[in-house]
Amino acid sequence: MNKLIVSLLLTLGITGVAHAAGDATAGQAKAAVCGACHGPDGNSPAPNFPKLAGQGERYLTKQMHDIKDGKRTVLEMTGLLANLSDQDLADIAAYFASQKGSVGAADPKTVAHGEELFRGGNLEKGMPSCIGCHSPNGAGLAEAGFPHLSGQHAQYVAKQLTDFREGNRTNDGDAKIMQTITNKMSNKDIEAVSQYIQGLH
Ligand code: HEC
Ligand code: HEC
Repeated sequence: MNKLIVSLLLTLGITGVAHAAGDATAGQAKAAVCGACHGPDGNSPAPNFPKLAGQGERYLTKQMHDIKDGKRTVLEMTGLLANLSDQDLADIAAYFASQKGSVGAADPKTVAHGEELFRGGNLEKGMPSCIGCHSPNGAGLAEAGFPHLSGQHAQYVAKQLTDFREGNRTNDGDAKIMQTITNKMSNKDIEAVSQYIQGLH
Protein backbone atom coordinates (compact mmCIF):
# COMPACT_ATOMS: atom_id res chain seq x y z
CA MET A 1 0.00 0.00 0.00
CA ASN A 2 1.38 3.43 -0.79
CA LYS A 3 1.84 6.22 1.75
CA LEU A 4 -1.09 8.27 0.49
CA ILE A 5 -3.50 5.41 1.06
CA VAL A 6 -2.13 4.61 4.50
CA SER A 7 -2.44 8.20 5.67
CA LEU A 8 -5.92 8.38 4.19
CA LEU A 9 -6.97 5.27 6.08
CA LEU A 10 -5.73 6.90 9.27
CA THR A 11 -7.56 10.15 8.47
CA LEU A 12 -10.75 8.23 7.88
CA GLY A 13 -10.32 6.54 11.24
CA ILE A 14 -10.30 3.03 9.84
CA THR A 15 -8.62 1.78 13.00
CA GLY A 16 -11.52 1.03 15.24
CA VAL A 17 -14.52 3.30 15.71
CA ALA A 18 -17.64 1.23 16.13
CA HIS A 19 -20.53 1.97 13.78
CA ALA A 20 -24.16 1.04 14.22
CA ALA A 21 -24.52 -2.24 12.33
CA GLY A 22 -27.10 -2.02 9.57
CA ASP A 23 -29.95 -4.50 9.07
CA ALA A 24 -30.61 -5.01 5.35
CA THR A 25 -34.12 -6.40 5.84
CA ALA A 26 -35.21 -3.42 7.92
CA GLY A 27 -33.44 -1.18 5.41
CA GLN A 28 -35.47 -2.43 2.45
CA ALA A 29 -38.72 -1.04 3.90
CA LYS A 30 -37.07 2.23 4.91
CA ALA A 31 -35.63 2.65 1.40
CA ALA A 32 -39.01 2.46 -0.36
CA VAL A 33 -39.14 6.23 -0.92
CA CYS A 34 -35.62 6.21 -2.43
CA GLY A 35 -36.60 3.72 -5.14
CA ALA A 36 -38.46 6.35 -7.16
CA CYS A 37 -35.11 7.82 -8.23
CA HIS A 38 -32.49 5.22 -7.35
CA GLY A 39 -34.52 2.15 -8.41
CA PRO A 40 -36.19 -0.26 -5.94
CA ASP A 41 -33.03 -2.41 -5.76
CA GLY A 42 -30.67 0.56 -6.16
CA ASN A 43 -30.11 0.12 -9.89
CA SER A 44 -31.35 3.52 -11.00
CA PRO A 45 -32.72 3.62 -14.54
CA ALA A 46 -31.87 7.32 -15.06
CA PRO A 47 -28.32 8.42 -15.99
CA ASN A 48 -28.34 11.40 -13.59
CA PHE A 49 -29.47 9.36 -10.55
CA PRO A 50 -26.60 7.29 -9.14
CA LYS A 51 -26.85 3.52 -8.77
CA LEU A 52 -26.58 2.56 -5.10
CA ALA A 53 -26.75 -1.23 -5.58
CA GLY A 54 -23.55 -2.97 -4.51
CA GLN A 55 -22.08 0.26 -3.17
CA GLY A 56 -20.00 -0.09 0.02
CA GLU A 57 -21.87 0.37 3.29
CA ARG A 58 -19.32 2.73 4.79
CA TYR A 59 -19.32 5.02 1.74
CA LEU A 60 -23.15 5.03 1.54
CA THR A 61 -23.49 5.90 5.22
CA LYS A 62 -20.99 8.74 4.92
CA GLN A 63 -22.72 10.21 1.87
CA MET A 64 -26.15 10.07 3.52
CA HIS A 65 -24.80 11.85 6.61
CA ASP A 66 -23.04 14.43 4.43
CA ILE A 67 -26.23 15.06 2.42
CA LYS A 68 -28.34 15.24 5.58
CA ASP A 69 -25.90 17.69 7.23
CA GLY A 70 -25.56 19.86 4.12
CA LYS A 71 -21.88 18.98 3.53
CA ARG A 72 -22.89 17.67 0.10
CA THR A 73 -25.67 19.43 -1.75
CA VAL A 74 -28.28 17.23 -3.44
CA LEU A 75 -31.29 19.46 -4.15
CA GLU A 76 -33.42 16.50 -5.28
CA MET A 77 -33.06 15.01 -1.79
CA THR A 78 -33.84 18.15 0.21
CA GLY A 79 -35.54 17.17 3.47
CA LEU A 80 -35.72 13.48 2.57
CA LEU A 81 -33.20 12.34 5.17
CA ALA A 82 -34.17 14.85 7.87
CA ASN A 83 -36.34 12.45 9.85
CA LEU A 84 -34.14 9.39 9.48
CA SER A 85 -32.06 8.29 12.50
CA ASP A 86 -28.47 7.01 12.39
CA GLN A 87 -29.90 3.49 12.67
CA ASP A 88 -32.26 4.12 9.71
CA LEU A 89 -29.33 5.31 7.58
CA ALA A 90 -27.23 2.28 8.60
CA ASP A 91 -30.11 -0.08 7.70
CA ILE A 92 -30.63 1.59 4.31
CA ALA A 93 -26.90 1.39 3.58
CA ALA A 94 -26.89 -2.32 4.47
CA TYR A 95 -29.84 -2.92 2.13
CA PHE A 96 -28.34 -1.21 -0.94
CA ALA A 97 -24.89 -2.72 -0.25
CA SER A 98 -26.45 -6.20 -0.35
CA GLN A 99 -27.94 -5.69 -3.84
CA LYS A 100 -26.15 -6.56 -7.07
CA GLY A 101 -25.08 -3.58 -9.18
CA SER A 102 -25.85 -3.66 -12.90
CA VAL A 103 -23.30 -2.73 -15.56
CA GLY A 104 -23.77 -0.60 -18.70
CA ALA A 105 -21.77 -0.24 -21.90
CA ALA A 106 -18.89 2.13 -22.63
CA ASP A 107 -18.75 4.39 -25.70
CA PRO A 108 -16.25 2.58 -27.97
CA LYS A 109 -14.91 5.93 -29.24
CA THR A 110 -13.46 7.04 -25.90
CA VAL A 111 -13.03 3.81 -23.94
CA ALA A 112 -9.34 3.32 -24.80
CA HIS A 113 -8.31 6.73 -23.42
CA GLY A 114 -10.54 6.09 -20.40
CA GLU A 115 -8.91 2.76 -19.67
CA GLU A 116 -5.44 4.27 -20.00
CA LEU A 117 -6.24 6.95 -17.40
CA PHE A 118 -8.07 4.61 -15.05
CA ARG A 119 -5.27 2.05 -15.03
CA GLY A 120 -2.21 4.18 -15.58
CA GLY A 121 -3.06 7.74 -14.60
CA ASN A 122 -1.15 10.50 -16.34
CA LEU A 123 2.53 10.53 -15.45
CA GLU A 124 3.21 13.86 -17.17
CA LYS A 125 0.56 15.69 -15.15
CA GLY A 126 1.36 13.76 -11.95
CA MET A 127 -2.12 12.26 -11.90
CA PRO A 128 -2.30 8.88 -10.09
CA SER A 129 -4.23 5.96 -11.53
CA CYS A 130 -7.65 5.21 -10.11
CA ILE A 131 -7.03 1.52 -9.42
CA GLY A 132 -4.98 2.07 -6.24
CA CYS A 133 -8.13 3.06 -4.38
CA HIS A 134 -11.05 2.00 -6.58
CA SER A 135 -9.37 -1.34 -7.54
CA PRO A 136 -8.72 -2.62 -11.09
CA ASN A 137 -12.29 -3.85 -11.60
CA GLY A 138 -13.83 -0.75 -10.00
CA ALA A 139 -15.08 -2.63 -6.94
CA GLY A 140 -13.57 -0.05 -4.57
CA LEU A 141 -12.50 -0.89 -1.02
CA ALA A 142 -15.63 -1.02 1.09
CA GLU A 143 -13.98 -1.08 4.54
CA ALA A 144 -12.00 2.05 3.71
CA GLY A 145 -14.96 3.93 2.25
CA PHE A 146 -13.44 4.00 -1.25
CA PRO A 147 -16.54 3.83 -3.43
CA HIS A 148 -17.46 1.07 -5.84
CA LEU A 149 -17.49 2.62 -9.33
CA SER A 150 -18.00 -0.22 -11.80
CA GLY A 151 -21.14 0.10 -13.90
CA GLN A 152 -22.04 3.55 -12.52
CA HIS A 153 -23.84 5.84 -15.01
CA ALA A 154 -21.30 7.83 -17.04
CA GLN A 155 -23.39 11.00 -16.84
CA TYR A 156 -23.45 10.84 -13.02
CA VAL A 157 -19.71 10.04 -12.80
CA ALA A 158 -18.79 12.89 -15.14
CA LYS A 159 -20.87 15.31 -13.04
CA GLN A 160 -19.13 14.18 -9.83
CA LEU A 161 -15.64 14.55 -11.32
CA THR A 162 -16.53 18.00 -12.66
CA ASP A 163 -18.09 18.97 -9.31
CA PHE A 164 -14.91 17.90 -7.46
CA ARG A 165 -12.77 19.87 -9.91
CA GLU A 166 -14.92 23.03 -9.79
CA GLY A 167 -15.25 22.92 -6.00
CA ASN A 168 -18.98 22.13 -6.05
CA ARG A 169 -18.41 18.83 -4.21
CA THR A 170 -15.99 19.20 -1.30
CA ASN A 171 -16.84 16.28 0.98
CA ASP A 172 -13.85 14.14 0.01
CA GLY A 173 -12.10 14.63 3.34
CA ASP A 174 -9.19 16.71 4.62
CA ALA A 175 -6.78 15.05 2.19
CA LYS A 176 -8.91 16.38 -0.73
CA ILE A 177 -7.94 13.35 -2.78
CA MET A 178 -10.57 13.66 -5.48
CA GLN A 179 -10.34 17.45 -5.68
CA THR A 180 -6.57 17.20 -6.23
CA ILE A 181 -6.84 14.43 -8.83
CA THR A 182 -9.62 16.06 -10.87
CA ASN A 183 -7.62 19.31 -11.00
CA LYS A 184 -5.31 17.43 -13.34
CA MET A 185 -8.12 16.22 -15.62
CA SER A 186 -9.42 17.89 -18.79
CA ASN A 187 -13.08 17.67 -19.82
CA LYS A 188 -12.02 15.10 -22.39
CA ASP A 189 -10.29 12.99 -19.70
CA ILE A 190 -13.41 13.14 -17.52
CA GLU A 191 -15.69 12.10 -20.37
CA ALA A 192 -13.43 9.18 -21.34
CA VAL A 193 -12.89 7.80 -17.84
CA SER A 194 -16.63 8.09 -17.09
CA GLN A 195 -17.46 6.05 -20.18
CA TYR A 196 -14.88 3.45 -19.17
CA ILE A 197 -16.39 3.19 -15.66
CA GLN A 198 -19.93 2.73 -17.05
CA GLY A 199 -18.83 -0.46 -18.83
CA LEU A 200 -16.37 -1.68 -16.20
CA HIS A 201 -16.97 -4.92 -14.32
C1 HEC B 1 -36.03 12.86 -6.39
C2 HEC B 1 -34.92 11.93 -6.65
C3 HEC B 1 -34.19 11.32 -5.46
C4 HEC B 1 -34.75 10.65 -4.38
C5 HEC B 1 -36.23 10.38 -4.09
C6 HEC B 1 -33.63 10.19 -3.59
N1 HEC B 1 -32.44 10.56 -4.17
FE1 HEC B 1 -30.58 10.09 -3.52
N2 HEC B 1 -29.76 11.17 -5.04
C7 HEC B 1 -30.45 11.83 -6.02
C8 HEC B 1 -29.52 12.50 -6.91
C9 HEC B 1 -29.90 13.34 -8.13
C10 HEC B 1 -28.23 12.24 -6.41
C11 HEC B 1 -26.88 12.70 -6.99
C12 HEC B 1 -26.72 14.19 -6.96
C13 HEC B 1 -25.41 14.62 -7.55
O1 HEC B 1 -25.34 14.71 -8.78
O2 HEC B 1 -24.45 14.80 -6.79
C14 HEC B 1 -28.41 11.39 -5.24
C15 HEC B 1 -27.36 10.88 -4.47
C16 HEC B 1 -27.50 9.96 -3.45
C17 HEC B 1 -26.41 9.31 -2.76
C18 HEC B 1 -24.93 9.45 -3.07
C19 HEC B 1 -24.53 8.37 -4.06
C20 HEC B 1 -23.07 8.34 -4.41
O3 HEC B 1 -22.68 7.46 -5.20
O4 HEC B 1 -22.30 9.17 -3.92
C21 HEC B 1 -26.96 8.50 -1.81
C22 HEC B 1 -26.22 7.60 -0.84
C23 HEC B 1 -28.40 8.66 -1.89
N3 HEC B 1 -28.70 9.54 -2.90
C24 HEC B 1 -29.29 8.03 -1.06
C25 HEC B 1 -30.68 8.22 -1.11
C26 HEC B 1 -31.59 7.66 -0.15
C27 HEC B 1 -31.21 6.78 1.02
C28 HEC B 1 -32.85 8.07 -0.52
C29 HEC B 1 -34.17 7.77 0.16
C30 HEC B 1 -34.27 8.10 1.58
C31 HEC B 1 -32.71 8.89 -1.71
N4 HEC B 1 -31.38 8.97 -2.03
C32 HEC B 1 -33.75 9.46 -2.41
C33 HEC B 1 -31.83 11.82 -6.18
C34 HEC B 1 -32.75 11.26 -5.31
C1 HEC C 1 -6.01 7.76 -3.04
C2 HEC C 1 -7.33 7.19 -3.26
C3 HEC C 1 -8.10 7.57 -4.51
C4 HEC C 1 -7.67 7.63 -5.82
C5 HEC C 1 -6.27 7.39 -6.36
C6 HEC C 1 -8.84 7.94 -6.62
N1 HEC C 1 -9.94 8.07 -5.82
FE1 HEC C 1 -11.85 8.46 -6.43
N2 HEC C 1 -12.47 8.55 -4.49
C7 HEC C 1 -11.67 8.30 -3.39
C8 HEC C 1 -12.45 8.50 -2.18
C9 HEC C 1 -11.97 8.32 -0.75
C10 HEC C 1 -13.75 8.92 -2.59
C11 HEC C 1 -14.93 9.25 -1.70
C12 HEC C 1 -14.94 10.70 -1.29
C13 HEC C 1 -16.13 11.01 -0.41
O1 HEC C 1 -16.19 10.45 0.69
O2 HEC C 1 -16.99 11.78 -0.82
C14 HEC C 1 -13.72 8.92 -4.06
C15 HEC C 1 -14.81 9.24 -4.84
C16 HEC C 1 -14.85 9.12 -6.22
C17 HEC C 1 -16.01 9.30 -7.05
C18 HEC C 1 -17.43 9.62 -6.57
C19 HEC C 1 -18.22 8.35 -6.50
C20 HEC C 1 -19.69 8.55 -6.31
O3 HEC C 1 -20.40 7.54 -6.27
O4 HEC C 1 -20.15 9.69 -6.23
C21 HEC C 1 -15.63 9.09 -8.33
C22 HEC C 1 -16.52 9.16 -9.57
C23 HEC C 1 -14.21 8.80 -8.32
N3 HEC C 1 -13.76 8.82 -7.02
C24 HEC C 1 -13.46 8.53 -9.46
C25 HEC C 1 -12.07 8.40 -9.47
C26 HEC C 1 -11.27 8.34 -10.66
C27 HEC C 1 -11.84 8.37 -12.08
C28 HEC C 1 -9.96 8.24 -10.26
C29 HEC C 1 -8.71 8.21 -11.14
C30 HEC C 1 -8.59 9.28 -12.12
C31 HEC C 1 -9.96 8.23 -8.80
N4 HEC C 1 -11.25 8.33 -8.36
C32 HEC C 1 -8.82 8.10 -8.00
C33 HEC C 1 -10.36 7.89 -3.40
C34 HEC C 1 -9.54 7.85 -4.53
